[in-house]
Amino acid sequence: MRIVALVSGSGTTLQALLDAVAAGRIDATVVAVGADKDCHGLERAQAAGAATFVVEPAEHPDRPTWNRALQEIVAGHQPDLVLLAGFMRILDEEFVTAFAPALINTHPALLPSFPGAHGVRDALAHGVKITGATVHRVVPEVDAGQILGQVAVPVLPEDDEATLHERIKMAERELFVDVVAELCADADAQ
Ligand code: GAR
Repeated sequence: MRIVALVSGSGTTLQALLDAVAAGRIDATVVAVGADKDCHGLERAQAAGAATFVVEPAEHPDRPTWNRALQEIVAGHQPDLVLLAGFMRILDEEFVTAFAPALINTHPALLPSFPGAHGVRDALAHGVKITGATVHRVVPEVDAGQILGQVAVPVLPEDDEATLHERIKMAERELFVDVVAELCADADAQ
């Protein structure tokens, strides 16, 4: 299985994936990691020997052009699986259709509650006592695709967005690795 991952930030989810591949827990190769900006996730990818690329929206005249440029680079790596591992941009329908159903996202809330870019903040603001993370297939509608796995995380009275997100990410990394491992094992079995 050839994996291409997309990231936007610190890349701790990506690191869990890279570690699981290195440990033989996931039967796949992370061939490339892309980002919408320079970020620490790219350094993690380079350290693991994966190719990296950056496709910045600011370098393209509009969103569809940026989407197409990103799509072409991802497709060039001939992925069997495309993973959004902390990728903070919305991909258009053309991109989604090109890779679905092998396009997977992880989201820091229990979907279908609290979709979008601020899942942790929105859950906290709503006063939920339990939140978590969801790994799901990507469809054109944001955070609405088939749920592949979820993990629950209690909200503590003293939590702010940062502390809650950190605890969610600890559980989320395990979930993400488990789901990807299962998808790769299923593909091997076919
Ligand atoms: C993760 O919590 C992931 O669910 C979230 O970004 C974090 C990435 O952290 N993604 C989204 O919110 C997408 N809407 P990381 O950079 O440390 O892996």
